[in-house]
Amino acid sequence: MSHSSLIQAIDNEVHVEGVPLTRVAAEHGTPSYVYSKAALVRAYGNFAAAFSQRDTLVCYAAKANSNLAILGLFAKLGAGFDIVSAGELMRVIAAGGDPRKVVFSGVGKRADEMRTALQHNILCFNVESAAELSRLAEVAATMGKRAPVSIRVNPDVDPKTHPYIATGLKENKFGVAFEEARTLYREASSLASIEIVGIDCHIGSQITDIAPFADALEKVLHLVDQLESDGIRLHHIDLGGGIGIRYKDEEPIAIDRYAATLMAGLKGRDVQLIFEPGRSLVGNAGLLLTRVEYIKQGGEKRFAIVDAAMNDLIRPALYDAYHEVVAVASRGKNTAALYDVVGPVCESGDFLARGRMLAIAPGDLIAVLSAGAYGSVMASNYNTRPRPAEIMIDGTNAHLIRVRESVQDLYAHEKLLP
Ligand code: LLP
Repeated sequence: MSHSSLIQAIDNEVHVEGVPLTRVAAEHGTPSYVYSKAALVRAYGNFAAAFSQRDTLVCYAAKANSNLAILGLFAKLGAGFDIVSAGELMRVIAAGGDPRKVVFSGVGKRADEMRTALQHNILCFNVESAAELSRLAEVAATMGKRAPVSIRVNPDVDPKTHPYIATGLKENKFGVAFEEARTLYREASSLASIEIVGIDCHIGSQITDIAPFADALEKVLHLVDQLESDGIRLHHIDLGGGIGIRYKDEEPIAIDRYAATLMAGLKGRDVQLIFEPGRSLVGNAGLLLTRVEYIKQGGEKRFAIVDAAMNDLIRPALYDAYHEVVAVASRGKNTAALYDVVGPVCESGDFLARGRMLAIAPGDLIAVLSAGAYGSVMASNYNTRPRPAEIMIDGTNAHLIRVRESVQDLYAHEKLLP
């Protein structure tokens, strides 16, 4: 199966570590996101260990799952963070993360976000345009500070992933075109309130082929050499995130192979490495637990209508993403049939999975696997549906790490007209 080995069937019942999911549902209700702490620790540990021979900082991409408990766990393990908003910086700090290990990505940083990040002395701004560079220089100057900067270059390689999550192609809005990067570095080196510290790229997400990573590195290194001849020396190279995971039958890049390939390319260079992994650290450490409300035989299809919906997990609707679905307790009483697993939201796009063989009945629990990344963080309140509770399993303990929203929470900030 596609998920972590810490999610497994014991006595015909799916457990996360030592806790049966029926217990989680009884204690915390459904729908709920459930994570394995050990799976998170293992994923981070494997990534860090693969690069242990070099000076490396693993900056977890907070956007993949920014629950404070998850950020706090990675912070304790020594991680830095890749953020894309001042809001994520506040989360990192609230979770006990070190702002001096934070890199700030994103094409649309506002001046106030730059100020907040400068106040907290973050490690680096990953600058994505000439206009952003001049704004940052201005903001830093008014604060009497020097802003540490890396320019995000767009290496124009095809990551062969879903078009919505490919970012390193010329046609994408991300980064600075390769031909312009050298000029922008020269410009940056002339600005008193800017300190050049690195270079970065991020070519996309859910990448399962190592070639685009190797190609991007080669292109980046070519630029690094040109910059050196211009008298610009970099302290770090940030190669972004993007390593894919197994949702169905993908063959993900083994982290040791990824590390070996990149380190071979970097041989002889005395430079710190930074990575921004998101999905590969959390994706297969989490699932969405939901209950079957109804079984409905439609004209052509059989539907399992569950209490989770596209507002809780939007990846199937948005990217046509595949998530494996398993019945939590197979009691053998139900005969298997082919189901579309759908939610109660009034949209035909409201499905979690289609055409799956499942032996289920109303009242049964279902687990939607590989939902740890870009699941809870992309949840919305569409149809006035409170977002799910989140639970972190640690051995035989189930810690509630996000209380389920109440309906009143959802309109607490709204006002009737006078
Ligand atoms: N660094 C930057 C600058 C990024 O934009 C991203 C992800 C990452 C790092 C982390 O990439 P990862 O290691 O997770 O692949 N919502 C989509 C994925 C969007 C990814 C956006 N950027 C999904 O559900 O598949």
